[in-house]
Amino acid sequence: MKEKLEKIKLQALEEISRAATSEELNAVRVKYLGKSGEISLIMRDMANVKKEDRPEMGKLVNELRGCVEGELVEKTKAVGELEKQARLKAEAIDVTLPTDKTAGTYHPLTLIRRELIDIFRSMGFSVDEGPEIESDLFNFQLLNIPKDHPSRDMQDTFYVSDKVVLRTQTSAMQARIMTKTQPPIRVVIPGKVYRSDDDASHSPIFNQFEGLAVDEHITMGDLQGCLTTFAQKIFSSDTKVRLRPSYFPFTEPSVEVDVTCSMCHGRGCRVCKGTGWVEILGAGIVNPKVLDMCGIDSKKYSGFAFGFGIDRIAMIKFGIPNIKMLYENDSRFLSQF
Ligand code: DAH
Repeated sequence: MKEKLEKIKLQALEEISRAATSEELNAVRVKYLGKSGEISLIMRDMANVKKEDRPEMGKLVNELRGCVEGELVEKTKAVGELEKQARLKAEAIDVTLPTDKTAGTYHPLTLIRRELIDIFRSMGFSVDEGPEIESDLFNFQLLNIPKDHPSRDMQDTFYVSDKVVLRTQTSAMQARIMTKTQPPIRVVIPGKVYRSDDDASHSPIFNQFEGLAVDEHITMGDLQGCLTTFAQKIFSSDTKVRLRPSYFPFTEPSVEVDVTCSMCHGRGCRVCKGTGWVEILGAGIVNPKVLDMCGIDSKKYSGFAFGFGIDRIAMIKFGIPNIKMLYENDSRFLSQF
């Protein structure tokens, strides 16, 4: 028995000293000290040892177990330390490696939106925002767009439900503001709008910029002056503005507004298709019907309104050929701004 214990001891210590990883050490521990490990089995077998030999044998087996356990603990510590060092070395970050130093840039739409807000603030307008999921009431009805108007056609409007749409125009905010505020009103509203439309100059999501001024004695002259200031600040001080008669249900009279092409300064080029002019927005005198529907006395007050695509301004100003470029977020494109 004694020799057997001695043999086990030598064998176990030899295996411990050979083990190079914590996994291997664990295997040795299981082999000798695990539930059915060699040392555990001997301890369990003690009942078969002669009674008078038991104390001595017990002592020897305990010593053996203590010795193997002690060695295992020591070696596990040492191997653990080596493994930690190896892991740290493998995961080390070389702080001397050159890093990517490209700084982010503002999106062209953000740049234009901020510039627009600054321009209109300088003319006394405040800035408001509204919901992109909008009720039919504000997006259409209060803007004098009846149920059968073509712009409500399923092809243009994304319907959420019968009475709820993804707003097709920031003009919806005109109705919202006028139903809760009495004049004087001077406000601009930038925001996303949605239409079921998709080609080089149309995207199903795009950004509009709405303006509304309601007060006593507001005229078409005020609208023209305001838009001329805006156009000359956003494009260049020699920009000319042209108003053409048009139709919108919520303005009467309505106009479409052209500016001299900022690429060729009116001489005619690819951007303006040789005409020297580019159309940038719709506007007009707020239809008295709309004022009354929103709870503003049309006998006392009048107003002007306008709306345009921020995307279109960005495309004209930066010479961007396709609206999709504004939404693809290709960093090669974005880093140019
Ligand atoms: N909401 C119009 C559109 O999306 C643009 C517009 C035209 C806005 C005339 C106005 C306006 O405020 O008076 O096409």
